[in-house]
Amino acid sequence: MSQKPLTIALSKGRILKETLPLLKQAGIELLEDPDASRKLIFDTTRDDVKIIIIRATDVPPYVQHGAADIGVAGKDVLMEHGADGVFEPLDLDIARCKLMVAALNDAPEVGSRLRVATKFVNVAKAYFAQQGKQAEVIKLYGAMELAPLVGLADRIVDIVDTGNTLRANGLEPTELIAHISTRVIVNRASMKTRHGDIQAILDKLAEAVESRKAQ
Ligand code: ATP
Ligand code: PRP
Repeated sequence: MSQKPLTIALSKGRILKETLPLLKQAGIELLEDPDASRKLIFDTTRDDVKIIIIRATDVPPYVQHGAADIGVAGKDVLMEHGADGVFEPLDLDIARCKLMVAALNDAPEVGSRLRVATKFVNVAKAYFAQQGKQAEVIKLYGAMELAPLVGLADRIVDIVDTGNTLRANGLEPTELIAHISTRVIVNRASMKTRHGDIQAILDKLAEAVESRKAQ
């Protein structure tokens, strides 16, 4: 093989399970079960394609810096990281959810400066600035729903799907920031230097997405 293999970075966790069948339909299958392995780099049924499985938040930097040619990540993660150096050519239409502001049920309006707890610090800052609201944004790494219950924050910015997590904690969604789904991203330089190979994979993935929608 003359060229180095194409590298695809996948987010481990919830997205992985839904991404693998789409990749399989696009002709790319892992040679090993990632759940049964401590490996981070996986060979695939294609000699010229390797897959790395990393944390969702690490996918954008790997692709941005060219360590991976292609990546799969939630739009929430992409919005938070920023899109420098990457294209976002395809919506895989999986892991659909919403990025929302939420508050305690019947929470009062906050006068001057909101305290907002979230792991989406950049998104939250940009959103409240655009709303003309002053916000102190507190970075958390999980369980955002707890913050208003214990007086750490007036609002949270978090993912909402069924709304069950909010409801179970006496919270309600107040504002929609964005509809979220899982996207394919491509390193800008790779898109030029490996255009044929990458476009062929994108085309097959797009077909897989369409045939899944038709089911
Ligand atoms: P990490 O565990 O690495 O911090 P994470 O907890 O955000 O990341 P997952 O829970 O696997 O990782 O979520 C991956 C992606 O799935 C998110 O970036 C988002 O796009 C989407 N997602 C998260 N929660 C839900 C949900 N409840 N329903 C549907 N999609 C979701
Ligand atoms: C996500 C998100 C919310 C929850 C929303 O958490 O952070 O807490 O899902 O989904 P719902 O509206 O259907 O309840 P996840 O289940 O991924 O757990 P995590 O906090 O470990 O990321």
